[in-house]
Order: sequence, then structure tokens, then C-alpha cells
Amino acid sequence: MAHNPVRVLSKYTELFGDTFRFYFGGVREAIVTTNPAVIQHVLKTNAENYHKSEIQVKRMGHFLGKGLLTSHGEVWRTQRRLIQKGFDRKQLEVLSSIMQDSLADSLRDFDSQARIGPVDICPQLMKITFRMVAKSLFGAQLKDEDIDLISRTISTIQEFMVRQTIQPYLNPWFSVSGELRRHEEMRARADGILLHYIRRRRQEAPGHDLLQILMDARYSDGEGMSDELVLSESMQLLVAGHETSSNALSWLLYSLSSRPDCLERLRQEFDSVLGDAPLSYSDVPKFEFAAQVIQEALRLYPPFWMVDRMALSDDRAGDVDIPRGSTVVVFVYGAHHSPRYWENPESFDPERFSKANEKLHTPFAYLPFGAGPRGCIGGNYATLQILMILSVLLRKYDFRLVPGQTIEARPMVILRPKHGIRMTFTEAITRDVSRLSDCLP
Ligand code: HEM
Repeated sequence: MAHNPVRVLSKYTELFGDTFRFYFGGVREAIVTTNPAVIQHVLKTNAENYHKSEIQVKRMGHFLGKGLLTSHGEVWRTQRRLIQKGFDRKQLEVLSSIMQDSLADSLRDFDSQARIGPVDICPQLMKITFRMVAKSLFGAQLKDEDIDLISRTISTIQEFMVRQTIQPYLNPWFSVSGELRRHEEMRARADGILLHYIRRRRQEAPGHDLLQILMDARYSDGEGMSDELVLSESMQLLVAGHETSSNALSWLLYSLSSRPDCLERLRQEFDSVLGDAPLSYSDVPKFEFAAQVIQEALRLYPPFWMVDRMALSDDRAGDVDIPRGSTVVVFVYGAHHSPRYWENPESFDPERFSKANEKLHTPFAYLPFGAGPRGCIGGNYATLQILMILSVLLRKYDFRLVPGQTIEARPMVILRPKHGIRMTFTEAITRDVSRLSDCLP
């Protein structure tokens, strides 16, 4: 279970059906479900009765403070409403140019790596997507060394939180040995850096980034967020957007590497929609096939392979009793791979998401961005980000999977490739790459 929970839960789903009780670590009881009606009830219809699990909120809250990811009730609702503005259509259009500039900078690094030889795409894509999110939040002036330090801090703290959760008996040792303090100090250093940017912005002309949205937000009494709250909300957005899009993209490139037919169609679509213009948010609805490809990759490899909730009072979903205090694990990966809802669930088939076929989908059996009021706030941002990166990588390079490697998923918080994914990238010579000069480094 600690090694590969997805495999174990998939096997139990096959053996015991779509909803069963499971003892995590032999002690913590949870109801694991892939049943769309139960999922709909817990995440949407009766969402008021469910909080994020205590472990998530307590452990994350310790390091991340209060913010969208770790709050509930009225506080969460108000923050969500204010922050949502940062992800609306108008703002995503504004962010598009910050994202394009960041991508052009990142691609210079990527290109020099790719020229040397095969690259593990996972850390490379993480660098590209994290820089984009960080600059979308704090603006172009955010320094590269600060981005690196914050990214390293988030990765290290996330790994520590996973250890705290799966090896809870080590927690007293983490305190005594100073490990806990070391991680707290790391976090404080990253906080100090971001706080500096926040305080500086208070003295400067307004920016066009998400930081400005957080700073300009006003509660009903006319007050704004304190610097500390702006800091913890920004940190939580950085954490939520840290590894999600990059892992989605890694799995997507991996899936495409064995599908030259899809690659060709994608390249044609990017050429016909964009020509030589850079992609911005208003272009997103014009992509039909690329949207299908992204949706299918998120079905096969959902970055959040599960989401969990805790029942506040006794409840019943269909014929499933959910006693107060129980944890409900929505097994997203299991629903996405279930033969009940998908034909040939293991095959990569973007046609599932064509307009005609979408009508056949079972509601709440596909939830890469979660569902209900606590669904992902950054879903549209993530789609824009993925499209933007694909539009450039696919048209600039031919890429191949390095043969002989084992590709395997490692489902911790996020569904990552366990040993990375090594690929070779060679500059495409058959396509007219000069037309892309505007959007390439
Ligand atoms: C492919 C990329 C992404 C995927 C698959 C994804 C998936 C999810 C899922 C499944 C949830 C719901 C978790 C739950 O119900 O417990 C969620 C929540 C959230 N996501 Fe994303 N996410 C992605 C990208 C992003 C990005 C880029 C950002 C921000 C820049 C972001 C910010 C958030 C936040 C703040 C929440 C919490 C919302 C709340 O509780 O109100 N996500 N995401």
C-alpha cells in the first residue's frame, strides 16, 4: 500500500465493487468509492457536510497557514470568491503574455539541455510550469534564484508532509531530531522572500499579476487582505499549481510518443489556429483535438489520483452509510479506469472526448479537476498552460522515447512517473519552423 496505493485500491475495486471500507495503515477506516452517485453526493450535493480530511488540513495548515486549501465554511467561501477573479476569462487573457514570456525564457534552458542529449522531461517540465505559475503570481520581476529556492522548498516540505502522514509514528522523532524545525526554517526563509515582494508591491505601481488581484480584493467592510494572508494564499496557489500541470504534461508527451497520428493532427491544428502568433486565452476554445488529447491524458493519468473528505455528521449516499467522522476517499484514478464507465479504459483514445462521444459519458466518472464547490480553481489556467507549452514543443521538435526504460507511476500526493521519462528532442526540419519565430526563443 505504501509503495503503490493505486494498484492496491484498483485491485480491491475489482474484488469488492465500486464502494468498500478500507483500513489505511491498518487503523484509519475509510470508505473508498468510484461510484459516480456517491461521488456526486459527497463532493457536490451534500458538500456542506464534508470537510477536507483532517490530515490534509492539519499537516498542510502547519506549514502553509490558512488559505484556500486549508480553510472551510464562510472563511473559505469568501476567499474563494475573491481569488476566483484571478482566474476569470479577462484575467487569464492578461496573464497569457506573462506566461508566454516566461515560457520563452524557460525554453532557452530547455533547448540547451535537449541539444546535449536525452532529457528527463519531468524535472524540465516542472521548471517550465512552476516558473510560469510563479511569474503569473508575482510578475516578471520575480528573480530566477528566488523561484528556484521556493520550488525546492515546496518539494522538500511536500515530501516531509507525506512522511509525516504515512509514518505518523516518526513524528515525535521528527520533533526531537530537529527535522521538523529544519523544515519550518526552510518555509520561513521562503516566506521572507515572498513577503519582501508583497511589501515592495505596496509601494509600487500596480501590476497585472495575481498578486495584484489578491492585494486589490476587498471584503464587504471595505478592508483588504493583510500581507500575511496574501502571503499564505500565494504560497497555497504555488503549492497547488506546483506539480500538477507538469505531471499532466509529462504523461501527455509520453502518451503521444507512441501516437504519430495524433501528433500530426495536433501540429496541423496548432498551425491552422495560431499560424505564427503566440497562443493566448481567447484561442483556447478554438482547439478541438488538442482539448480532447489533454482530457484523455488527464483521464489516464489524473495528477490527483484521489481526493478525500471527512463527514461532519452521519450521512447516507444511495445505499452507503457514511457515519460521522469517517473519511471518504474518492478514488479518481479508479473511476477513470473503470470498464463500467469507459470502453477499453487502458487505451489512449482522444476520440472519447469528441463532441459526439462526450454525450455518452457518465457524469461524475471523470473528475481530473475534482467536482463541486471545492473543484480546482486553476483548471482553466492549467489548460492554457498545457496548450501553450504543447504548441511550442510539438512544433519545434520531433521527440522520441528513449528505448529500454521502465515507465511506472508513483502515486504519492501527485501521480508522478516513478523513474522519470527520458526523451530525445531534435529540432524539426521538415516543418517550417521559421514561421514560429514569434513564439520561440
Ligand atoms: C492539470 C493541472 C491541475 C489539476 C489536475 C488539478 C486538480 C485539482 C483537484 C482535483 C482539486 C480538488 C481537490 C479536492 O477536492 O480536494 C484542485 C483544487 C485546487 N487547485 Fe488544482 N489542479 C491543477 C492545476 C492547478 C493550478 C495551476 C492551480 C493554481 C495556480 C490550482 C489551484 C488549486 C486550488 C487553489 C485548489 C483548491 C480549491 C479550493 O479548495 O477551493 N490547480 N485541483
